[in-house]
Order: sequence, then structure tokens, then C-alpha cells
Amino acid sequence: MNKLRVLIVDDEVGVLNSLTRTLRNYQKPLEVISESDPRNALNQIKTETIDILITDQRMPLMSGLLLIHEAKKLKPDLQMILKSGYTDFDVVVDAINDGHITGFIMKPWLQREIDLIMTRAIASKQERDFIKFVTKQHMLSLEDWKVVVQRLEEDEQSHDERTVRALSLLIQPKDAELYQHSVRIGELAMHLGNQFSLSKTDLRRLEIGALLHDLGKVAIRDHIHYKSGKLNEEEFTQMKKHPLYGAEILEALGMDPKIVEIVKHHHEHVCGDGYPDGLKGDDISLLTKLSPFLMHMTP
Ligand SMILES: [Fe+2]
Repeated sequence: MNKLRVLIVDDEVGVLNSLTRTLRNYQKPLEVISESDPRNALNQIKTETIDILITDQRMPLMSGLLLIHEAKKLKPDLQMILKSGYTDFDVVVDAINDGHITGFIMKPWLQREIDLIMTRAIASKQERDFIKFVTKQHMLSLEDWKVVVQRLEEDEQSHDERTVRALSLLIQPKDAELYQHSVRIGELAMHLGNQFSLSKTDLRRLEIGALLHDLGKVAIRDHIHYKSGKLNEEEFTQMKKHPLYGAEILEALGMDPKIVEIVKHHHEHVCGDGYPDGLKGDDISLLTKLSPFLMHMTP
């Protein structure tokens, strides 16, 4: 996944520098840019790719809240974080209640608070990107997607668990048989992984990779996916893109790269005649090599 771009707006240059330094210590690499004039910031939001906006509330040329309102009109998907002092607490509460901001920073801030706020903003952005991807590819209508999300929220699982389950649920309406097949493979992966003395983390990666290996098939057009006879050359070329589609979905969600690799390369062969990259031998990871083995073991 590309580095996320964060724009910080504050009329005090010292504060800008301090917050920029704090963000550089964040666990994931971010591209941090700063601006002291909110009018220039609006122009940047209009013309450049910005993923997260962090703005101070009290600025002489424009309040942070006004900047957020104007920015929202330009980029509805932009994640907004408002920075303020305790005296502006009412403004912050109203902004949260109105759904305008995904987080707020109270001065003075602590590194761990910033980490938490950024993690939340990034997760929110990834979820929005994913919903856009799913609806754009006509995998599910927005209404169907809301039903899936509602079912997940009732389950009280962790964000990662919910993501994996959401993805496996995406397969179900497209192809019930494929869904059952994927669940069986996921279960088998655990048994097979034990034979290879994989670590607990690798076992879980293998299980998720096996469960989601054919996720990209939800993006294959129905007349190809459901065709009962042999696919013609052009149809087969389309079908061969499913590992790439699956990897694209998982990357957009910030999934563990080793899981993405299993999904992307589950049709590679050690002799080099697989797809999509024609990888050979040890260019294919052990986890990825185990996944097609599993597929041949299941009906
Ligand atoms: Fe496949």
C-alpha cells in the first residue's frame, strides 16, 4: 500500500514542527506535509492527494472547523482530525456528534494518543476505500454491504477478525460452493501447517490465505464465473486475473503482506508455468506453496 499522505494545518510553525516529528514516530510510514495558511491548505486538498487532515481550531484566517467543512465539500472521504485546547471542548464535542471528524487532539499531546488517533483514522480510511472498491466492482450493492457490516458489528470480534469474516462473507452470495470449499481449505490449512511445524503466526496466515485465496473471483464477470462449459481464451485471460483482484482487495485493507502473497500467487507452480507472475521454485514462499497443495486435497 502507498504511504498515506497527512496534511497538518496550524498557524504556529513551532507546533507544526513538533506534531510533524511526533507523526514521524508513528508505527507506519506516513508522508507528512504542513501548511500554516488554511487557505493554501484548501487549495492543496483540492489539487493534491491528501488522505488525512489534521487542523488546529484556533487560527486567525479561518477556524479549524470551517476548514473541515470546506474540505469535506471538496473531498468527502478525507479523514479529519481537529486539534484544540480544553477551552474549545464544546466545539470538539459538536464536531464529533455531527460526524465531521474521526478524532481530536488535545494540547499537549502524548505519542501514544497520537498513535491511537492515527490508527483509528487509517482504519476508517481503509474501510471507506474497501466499501468503494466493493460497490464499484458491483460485488455487492451499498445496501447489501450495510447488512454484512451490521451482522459483523453484532459479533464483537476484533477489527482483523471482522475483516477476514467480512471478506469470506463476500464470497458467499457470489458462489456458495466456492465459499464452502474455502472454509474447508481454511480448516485443512491448520492441520497441514502443523505437519510443517509452522509458527502460530504463520499457521494463522496460512489459514486466512487459504480461506480467502479465491476472493478475487467475486470481481469476475458472472457470464465467465458461472459458465458451465470450457472458457474460451479471452474468458480464461479474465479468469486468470482473480489472484490479482484478491490481492488488490487485501492490500487496500492493509492486510499482512504474507497473506496477500498467498492470495496473489496461489496459482503459481514451482516449474514456472503458473500465473500471474510465472514464479519459479524458491521465488514462491513455503506458505504459498502449501496453499495449492491444499486445494488439490479438497473436492
Ligand atoms: Fe484460484
